[in-house]
Amino acid sequence: MKLLIITIIAFSALVKAEQLDSELRISPRLYFNLLKAGQEEVAIPHQFPHQVFYTTDKGTYCGGTIIRNDAILTAAHCVHGLKIPSLQVIPGVHNISSPEASWQIKISKAIKIHENYSPNTYKNDIAIVSFQYPFVLDGKILNQISLYDNKATNFTGTEATASGWGWRHDSRDSLSSELHYFTSKIIPNQKCRQVYNNEVTDSIVCLDQVPGKGACHIDAGGPLYIVENNKLYQLGIFSYGEQRGCTKGKPTAYTQIPAYIDWIKNNLPKY
Ligand SMILES: *[C@@H]1O[C@H](CO)[C@@H](O)[C@H](O)[C@H]1NC(C)=O
Ligand SMILES: *[C@@H]1O[C@H](CO)[C@@H](O)[C@H](O)[C@H]1NC(C)=O
Repeated sequence: MKLLIITIIAFSALVKAEQLDSELRISPRLYFNLLKAGQEEVAIPHQFPHQVFYTTDKGTYCGGTIIRNDAILTAAHCVHGLKIPSLQVIPGVHNISSPEASWQIKISKAIKIHENYSPNTYKNDIAIVSFQYPFVLDGKILNQISLYDNKATNFTGTEATASGWGWRHDSRDSLSSELHYFTSKIIPNQKCRQVYNNEVTDSIVCLDQVPGKGACHIDAGGPLYIVENNKLYQLGIFSYGEQRGCTKGKPTAYTQIPAYIDWIKNNLPKY
């Protein structure tokens, strides 16, 4: 059931400042215009300025989100068993094969994994990675995400969007160099348990299957977004999907942020 996380990365030239400016002019307009359920698309550059991509000293790759200028949120299974400092985090990235002036590569200072994280069941699959030198958040190319904190909400039927640089199909050569996102509807956990059994705890939120699309390898640790009152929130962290393949039409499971909001607040490094 668990997704592994593997990829390759290449580097090339920088884009010019004026190109970035023209991209920024279009991005706020489309910012909340998330896709309709069932669709997947390439993000416009810096459409999700909270999203980061990172590489680890084990040669693995994952996603994460900026939750403070010196901390990112990600999945525990992405950073479990790593030495410190071991993460190279790249915020401000769109095409991971094409370095830009907006990249602010940072090396991690500390990794805080949930005390009750289980590598076998992926229970409590949440971690905070912090940095000695903060990111410069300009609110456009780089920003921090608002975390959804209302524990009482029933999300069933809500449209939610996941994003990442992961595989697009069930083959390694489908790795995408540009950030992709897709939207589907949240299903009740009872329905998700029909696929993943009791591993679907109440601290998970599941997104409905969309045949041929969905979160896959390397998307792990990345965000699940919802929009409420015209504001974008992170609701989940991509934790797992179907081991027989990401495009087999099975739901995907996300660590549910409202269930961990106190843990997050208590485990952010003190200034
Ligand atoms: C991403 O960057 C690489 C290297 O510059 C380039 O070859 C590739 O075409 C870019 N991908 C897209 C989809 O623009
Ligand atoms: C949320 O609503 C759905 C559909 O109305 C229902 O099936 C589900 O049990 C509810 N979930 C909770 C946790 O109450």
